[in-house]
Amino acid sequence: MLASLKSLAVFALAATAAQAAIVTYDWNITYVTANPDGLKERRVVGVNGQFPIPAINVTLNDTLVINVINQLDEPTSLHSHGLFQTGNGQFDGPSMVTQCPIPAGAKFTYTIPIEQHGTYWIHGHYKGHYVDGLRGPLIIHNINETYAYDEEYTLALADWYHTEHPIMLEQYLSIFNPSGAEPVPESGLINHMTNAKFNFVPGKTYRLRLINMSALAMFHFHIDGHEMEIIEIDGIDVERTKVTSFPITAAQRYSVLVTAKNDTSYNYILHADMDPAMFDVVPDDLQLNVTGTIVYSESAPTAPEETSQWLDFNDGDLVPVIPEETSEPAQIIALTASFNVLSDYSNKATFNDITYVQPKVPSLYTALTTGNYSSNPEVYGKYTHPLVLKHNDWIEIIINNNDAGNHPFHLHGHVFQIVGRGEGVHDPSKPYEGYINTTNPARRDTVLVPTEQNVAIRFRANNPGVWLFHCHIEWHLQAGLAVTFIEAPDLIPSVIKVDQSHYDNCKALDIPFSGNAAGKEGLDLTGANLGPDPLPGTFTAKGIVALVFTIIAALLGLGTVIWYAREDDINIQAEAAKARNNEEETN
Ligand code: C2O
Repeated sequence: MLASLKSLAVFALAATAAQAAIVTYDWNITYVTANPDGLKERRVVGVNGQFPIPAINVTLNDTLVINVINQLDEPTSLHSHGLFQTGNGQFDGPSMVTQCPIPAGAKFTYTIPIEQHGTYWIHGHYKGHYVDGLRGPLIIHNINETYAYDEEYTLALADWYHTEHPIMLEQYLSIFNPSGAEPVPESGLINHMTNAKFNFVPGKTYRLRLINMSALAMFHFHIDGHEMEIIEIDGIDVERTKVTSFPITAAQRYSVLVTAKNDTSYNYILHADMDPAMFDVVPDDLQLNVTGTIVYSESAPTAPEETSQWLDFNDGDLVPVIPEETSEPAQIIALTASFNVLSDYSNKATFNDITYVQPKVPSLYTALTTGNYSSNPEVYGKYTHPLVLKHNDWIEIIINNNDAGNHPFHLHGHVFQIVGRGEGVHDPSKPYEGYINTTNPARRDTVLVPTEQNVAIRFRANNPGVWLFHCHIEWHLQAGLAVTFIEAPDLIPSVIKVDQSHYDNCKALDIPFSGNAAGKEGLDLTGANLGPDPLPGTFTAKGIVALVFTIIAALLGLGTVIWYAREDDINIQAEAAKARNNEEETN
């Protein structure tokens, strides 16, 4: 009996191994003309002449091979969002973090052993390429799925702009935008269409895989007349949780099970409402209620549309099916996110007063080539905001959001546990009091930290490599809202193998690929890229507006600055009057 069981197990193992395949995609990255919202035709970034980009489908234990030919007129790179890339950090993708970007006209192959399952996505990680369309689903099927379902659909939610990203980025980061107002999209789309349809057959159970591929927008998802059960967040299977609606921020994924109705007399609207709180202004012509249709019968009428309620929802309450214990952290890192006008007079994002600026040498190559210095954060350059982690330590990050906006924060190379939430900015000199769950906490790779709140996350530093941690609002990443985790640098050279093709990219672009952040030896960082720093004193956005207009006025030789001066005068006069009144009262 025992023997036969054993041989059965061996057989099962062999069968599993036999299933593992090398799955190859040839991706010719090209410009495509498209009009996904039907409002404006424009140039987008597509693959093999196609847009939207078709999904990548693989199975656990496969090896995914993506042969890229970059036919754009500038460099690019690809990041498989949510993949651990254990020992494979050279293929993680963020430009100037783990690789030199792929030059225009060049070829490059990403080889990725698949060690997870669930719903992921792949996107450009060079400048804002993904905002211009370089983004697609990356679906990893389990060998035996945790939950039974009959069919599945992927719903890629995304905001859409009519202007190309570089033009908007320049305006966003210009000194004429001192409040840091983000470009607001022109549309919201499901699968890069305006009326995506999903056929349902009575009695069947569907897995809907939702991916938010937005640059900025957060959606609230709801289906008229149907209940949903959440079963997966960011690749982690969770206990079935019934919901009628839930929010999904940029870069997050959810799978829900939906059971089809037993009759076909109506079709139903599904709603992905864009949350207006994410937008600085909501233009009159922006359709916040993005919809698709569940089709039971082409000839059936649509059921009366429901107004979807946005329910209070805490992803920290979701319970992973495979439990993971947590541990007291060996290292606690408090990061405070804020936005300010910095010394370049542009509104930038900072973590602990440092705005991220790319190094001259990709940080991974610095870790690979600086020997004993690689454990010294200085070699990565102050403005990559390097944080060195010791192998296998439990790390806790307390993310403080000291900004008026909500931010979805993403960690490369890991899922993290959501262990705490609280109000305001946590004072690092005091013990953290916001712990909500330290027994099998929810795990994911992107977490929302709402305005003036904090979230504590934990992960184990068991993946030697260089991993970016950043806000996944693409505008905010470009504004510098990122830090670099240098995880177990002493082990990186023995774990991560970089072949010549990586360095060929660098050579073609004249990017140095060894030494510290300045491309020099040891701690000689002369010539390293420097960032703007916080301005001395308290420069308010309003003060900067006045300053900027003063400069313009001076340049134009106009006297328009008087208006601002007068406003300040009025304030001063009002203060003086108040002071006088107080004096009179006390007298
Ligand atoms: Cu979707 Cu740097 O990540």
